[in-house]
Amino acid sequence: MAEEIRIVLRNYGKIDPLKIDDYLAQGGYKALEKARTMDPKAVIEEVKKSNLRGRGGAGFNCGQKWSFAYAAEADEKYVVCNADEGEPGTYKDRLIMENDPHTLLEGMAICAHAIGAKKGYIYCRGEYPYVVEILITAIDQAKEKGVLGDFDIEVRSGAGAYVCGEETALIESLEGKRGEPRFKPPYPPSEGLWGKPTIVNNVETFANIPVIMDKGAEWFAAIGVPSYPGTKVVTLTGDVNNKTFFEVPTNTTIREVIYKLGGGIPGGKKFKAVQIGGTSGAFIPESQLDTPIAFDNMAAIGATLGSGAVFVLDETREIVDTVTRIIEFFEHESCGKCAPCREGTARCAELMEKINAGLGSQKDLNLLEKLGRVMTYSCLCGLGQAAPTPALSTIKHFRADYEAKFI
Ligand SMILES: Cc1cc2nc3c(=O)[nH]c(=O)nc-3n(C[C@H](O)[C@H](O)[C@H](O)COP(=O)(O)O)c2cc1C
Repeated sequence: MAEEIRIVLRNYGKIDPLKIDDYLAQGGYKALEKARTMDPKAVIEEVKKSNLRGRGGAGFNCGQKWSFAYAAEADEKYVVCNADEGEPGTYKDRLIMENDPHTLLEGMAICAHAIGAKKGYIYCRGEYPYVVEILITAIDQAKEKGVLGDFDIEVRSGAGAYVCGEETALIESLEGKRGEPRFKPPYPPSEGLWGKPTIVNNVETFANIPVIMDKGAEWFAAIGVPSYPGTKVVTLTGDVNNKTFFEVPTNTTIREVIYKLGGGIPGGKKFKAVQIGGTSGAFIPESQLDTPIAFDNMAAIGATLGSGAVFVLDETREIVDTVTRIIEFFEHESCGKCAPCREGTARCAELMEKINAGLGSQKDLNLLEKLGRVMTYSCLCGLGQAAPTPALSTIKHFRADYEAKFI
């Protein structure tokens, strides 16, 4: 659509992902060639200057992260792509990998040159077996053409655990262990895979790199919101006419995403709420729809951009019931390593189920709020820290829906 700017999806529909020649014909691997003529430090400076921030949820400055791994002394360093994409309602990374796998490989190879790594891994969601095949074909073709030089990439398939998207749990899983988060610090850029400096970046983050190297940091930094420049791939689900994806500049508001791109709500129904960023995201009321889909703007209203999933609920949807299903998901996905998450998600689920069944009271709601707040600062990783967000945000914005369920 006219409102879109396609950077990471620039080759979508234009190339056959299984033919490297198609990618090369679009100027593919030219950015890597250019990066290899540059000093690694200059590559990192360019990425830093672009102010590209992670698209996997945490929003960390990509160039800065690379500079930590560059500075770390080690005999071996690793580049890991987080393609776990376990977030319900999110399929942006799949779109990139299945339509343009070489843009990911090129982004990873530029990172490898920048930090001095010879080995890379793509940790792909277990439910994407056909994507794994596409990636393996792309790697084979890239090796055959010699475009990756001495940088070797392997694909590893996850086993379907949501927590394995958390970067340190992902690293544990790559090492063949149970996927549980590590205590941080040390952070992966200094001590990651096999204890070596490791860059973990999201698929969408890496896919931006070739374009930044090609068109320059200033070009990129001028798109969208300055504090989180570039584009965001948003995936729309729920009560919206166009249940599809869009790549839009980050100054696009949630309202524009739902009404302009998404075509509004079907059946002439009214808007009730929208959850941004996946299952752990906050539910946002109508009054906050003019917020741009950028990291800090979302944080300012107590929400998170997360993966960029946009889940719309119309006026007929039951908020309390929806949040109950979500907290049950987290109870199931908690890895159990830390008590606040293991116990907290289970107790939150119990309280939500009680309230949803019409057996709750104000006391239960207060307890749920208190427990949720404790979890946000005491859980070991983002899974438990964010699990209460759907409940806390809906208690804040849609309290009457809860109170209507009381005995
Ligand atoms: C429970 C949990 C699940 C996560 N899942 C993903 C995921 O599927 N993909 C992803 O890129 N990041 C995920 N993250 C964020 C990663 O820990 C990490 O911040 C990210 O991979 C860093 O890459 P980026 O800087 O390019 O965003 C998850 C975090 C948590 C706490």
